[in-house]
Amino acid sequence: MIATKILKQRESLPVFSYRQEIIDAIKKENLLVIIGETGSGKTTQIPQYILEGFENCRLIGVTQPRRIAAITVATRVSEEHGTRLGEDVGYSIRFDDCTSSKTRLRYMTDGVLLREATLDTQLEQYDIIIVDEAHERTVETDVLFGLLKATHRLRPELKILIMSATLNVEKFSDFFNGCPIFFIPGRTFNVNINHHRDAKISSLKSTYVQRAVETALYVHTQESPGDVLVFLTGQNEIDKACRDLIAREKDLDYRTDVKYADEVRGMVVYPIYSTLETMEQKAIFDDPPRYTRKIVFATNIAQTSVTIPGIKYVVDSGFVKQKSYDPTTGMDALLVVPISQAAATQRAGRAGRTAPGKAFRLYSRESFEKLDEETVPEIQRSSLLSTVLSLKKMEIKDILNFEFIDPPDPLLVKNALRQLFLLGAIDNEGKLTSLGDEMSIFPLSPFLSRALIASARQFGCSKEVMTIVSLLSVEEVFISPRTEKKQTEADERRKEFYHPSGDHLTLLNLFEAYQDNGHSREWCRDRYLNHRTLSTAKNIRDQLRELMIKHNIPLISCRKKNSHNDEREKKKRKLNYLDAKYDSIKILESFSTAYYINIAKRHSHRPVFYHYASARSPGNEYVDANSSLLALHISPVSALFPENRVVKMDDLDWVMYHNMLYTNKALMKVVSRVNLEWVEEKLKLFKELENARLDGSSVAKESEDKIVENDSEKNDAKNKEVIEENER
Ligand code: CDP
Ligand code: MG
Repeated sequence: MIATKILKQRESLPVFSYRQEIIDAIKKENLLVIIGETGSGKTTQIPQYILEGFENCRLIGVTQPRRIAAITVATRVSEEHGTRLGEDVGYSIRFDDCTSSKTRLRYMTDGVLLREATLDTQLEQYDIIIVDEAHERTVETDVLFGLLKATHRLRPELKILIMSATLNVEKFSDFFNGCPIFFIPGRTFNVNINHHRDAKISSLKSTYVQRAVETALYVHTQESPGDVLVFLTGQNEIDKACRDLIAREKDLDYRTDVKYADEVRGMVVYPIYSTLETMEQKAIFDDPPRYTRKIVFATNIAQTSVTIPGIKYVVDSGFVKQKSYDPTTGMDALLVVPISQAAATQRAGRAGRTAPGKAFRLYSRESFEKLDEETVPEIQRSSLLSTVLSLKKMEIKDILNFEFIDPPDPLLVKNALRQLFLLGAIDNEGKLTSLGDEMSIFPLSPFLSRALIASARQFGCSKEVMTIVSLLSVEEVFISPRTEKKQTEADERRKEFYHPSGDHLTLLNLFEAYQDNGHSREWCRDRYLNHRTLSTAKNIRDQLRELMIKHNIPLISCRKKNSHNDEREKKKRKLNYLDAKYDSIKILESFSTAYYINIAKRHSHRPVFYHYASARSPGNEYVDANSSLLALHISPVSALFPENRVVKMDDLDWVMYHNMLYTNKALMKVVSRVNLEWVEEKLKLFKELENARLDGSSVAKESEDKIVENDSEKNDAKNKEVIEENER
């Protein structure tokens, strides 16, 4: 019975009518792009057609951008194929390999295949590689494209298939030597799209979860039977939405409130996001019990990589959680951002797979038209520092000449290489060091990873540094109120945390106080602190701790003995509280292992162009120590800003800063004192840099010089800008 049902389902998919043509095309071409609507059967069916239609095929590898997709798809396909998971059909993801010597079809994450490719560039064990969900354009997929193109030159008989939803079609074919494209004609039904009357997407950020729940409830009470898929952005809000909807259902009187009460008498609510246990996920693919409506709250995972059957209604919040490079912090952050038009269209399309459907957008038509047309590929919105570190980790040596489908800016690649060298992540031949290997464990800016490792391996204060690192990985903790009066009050309250050594210890001080006060929302509000940001930092801190435990990186505190329960000490929170409690020098030394790249020296005389700034804040002129170019100033909210200093310091000649902000002048943000003897040895690396071949290639000296020239031109330009601003 089950077997016939599965067969029927398989035969009902759009790809089925093209089965033979697809097999023929794959037999004929070694490079091929296959395009088809999401849900048409590419991922689950085409690899099976190959299994059934190619007699002597050894191993087929199919990549997925998401771990959870690799597992669910492999589970489903082994069921359809009638074998146990891990036998003919298996999956392979990081830390979890469910394959055997019998396995001929292996679903895996793009990251796993990348690692295999770094060990064996020819991918000898595979006869066919399928890069699936190529439209997702993860950094890993983009790097795989480049690797596979090189593999194709070495081993042209390897069959390479790119499968994608209906986006970016020509681009893939162009990249792979203009290879043929196989279109699977869609069989989609009309989707009636409803926009919100006037809601601007920018105004929805704080209300979309609640509005999504309202809209799901509206569909449940007012629309004909059919399941609902609601797009939100992450685990926390999805769990909340599920709870809220279930609570709201309790208040419903089906007889009076529900329009189709004859057929709709209940609901089942499911969350789906990438960390959910696989077993829980399985129920999502089943039909709901009779007379009930299935309502699924999902992340972007349901947009193109996982298809949930039976969906007739889509609710689109308009947002997605995306890795984004934040130029003000110089780091990658997971940010909730508006989706692209292409993504909105994909989302709506999920309602019309098996019958006509409806999509409800929480934003207006006007807002839709203002969205970006396409989502920018991850590689172009990630900090290259992390990307280049990953490439090095994958043993890709010549990064400047690596063939990217959308290449990142080469100057930025070059700068990333230099910084990685200065951080000790690569050696002077561009090879990943063991330190670099350890740094790539953490989903942090390599600067912060470096400091964290130093604190664990050298200075014995990783618990404290982990806290500070978490706070430096989130947005601004201090709220800037709108009115001047409140701003003065906020400035005043901030002083309670200031530490004489600077802002790193100030952040630790603040977090300790936040914990001592039970993470209280009111406590934060009274001090003009962003409660949400702090709780995100706490979350990051927990994740870092887990990673450290998992990788045997020591978690050590530099808390001094006997200070723990000393209440009087706690009350004295002002000046030496932390010094009495912690060895703050160790903490600062840990940071200096990375931030010696960002140090500044106080300027003793007053060059002409400084007069404006100096008149306002004497003693606050600094010069970047490593370029000697930029005129820098300590930010007015820093604990080290002259007027904020808790102790008078005439000797604050050297400081390190976390990042820089350009306003009308270049401001150093998050600044702490640094002792020159901590960093003297390291500063020599700047000299070594001149002769290093960091990209591992044999670029002619000439072109290298050119890049250096460009660099300093750029710096000059930057410097000039700042000076001009100051003169105005
Ligand atoms: O890859 P593509 O989006 O073209 O389609 P697919 O993922 O192969 O999905 C084909 C069909 O299989 C859809 O109707 C899914 O609902 C179904 N499927 C399923 O029932 N259970 C799974 N775990 C995966 C897919
Ligand atoms: Mg697919």
